[in-house]
Amino acid sequence: MIVITSPDEMTRYAESARQSGERIGLVPTMGFLHDGHLTLMREGRRQSSVLVASIFVNPMQFGPGEDFARYPRNFERDCAMLERVPVDVVFAPEPAAMYSTDAQSWVDAGDITSGLCGAHRPGHFRGVTTVVAKLFNIVKPHLAVFGEKDFQQLRAIQKMVRDLNFDVEILPVPIVREKDGLAMSSRNAYLSSTEREDALALSLALRAAREKHRTDPCCAEEVVFAATRVLKRMKGVEIEYVEGVDAETLSRHPSLDRPILIAIAARVGKTRLIDNVVLNP
Ligand code: PAF
Repeated sequence: MIVITSPDEMTRYAESARQSGERIGLVPTMGFLHDGHLTLMREGRRQSSVLVASIFVNPMQFGPGEDFARYPRNFERDCAMLERVPVDVVFAPEPAAMYSTDAQSWVDAGDITSGLCGAHRPGHFRGVTTVVAKLFNIVKPHLAVFGEKDFQQLRAIQKMVRDLNFDVEILPVPIVREKDGLAMSSRNAYLSSTEREDALALSLALRAAREKHRTDPCCAEEVVFAATRVLKRMKGVEIEYVEGVDAETLSRHPSLDRPILIAIAARVGKTRLIDNVVLNP
């Protein structure tokens, strides 16, 4: 496994791999890896001959007052985990190598980013799609792997790829959960043991939504209400939103004849957590 920090060197490596007929897979991450990331890596490994993992805590997707400075980092541990997959290249640039001081161009995926997390984190998705577009241009992957836990991010990237004709196949991978149901996330590292217990309310709420949808699927509002009721019972959980939207377009007032996404964002202590489930008709 080699570590590359320079974008130009990464591009030279990718161009030469493409000329040799390799199929390049990319798994973009912000590091502090867990089993959820490793599932993405294994999917990328299966489908590519050269697998690149990027580790870059992207300042452009954090708003003022968010956790950019304290976002957990452990590069040595990440590399040891990636070596075991095995990953061929770790691309780990410094922010100054990714953004020149006069950079002013952005990629914005439009309406799909305006609701859900987009409504609560202004500028977040613009930062995500911009860095992912840059990573696609630098790493030149044939395919890129993204987790469904960040469902709106996945849809925004798929939209960007369609709208801007990126020649990259996007592979979505289902959420990986701890044994008790908590969705894996680097931010779970912030939780105290009491908060860790409280955080279970998110997956329990989604379970209640799934059950309501299965047994009594009258309207999306009722399904959302079933989830909200569970969250409200947990004192340590502050709901940011619970919403039911069309799972393709993320538009409001979804029809139960189509897959709907039930998405939750909530604060447990100071930690913002998200989780979701797609319910099929
Ligand atoms: O999901 C993440 O870790 C990040 O948003 C991503 C896709 C690596 C872009 O910085």
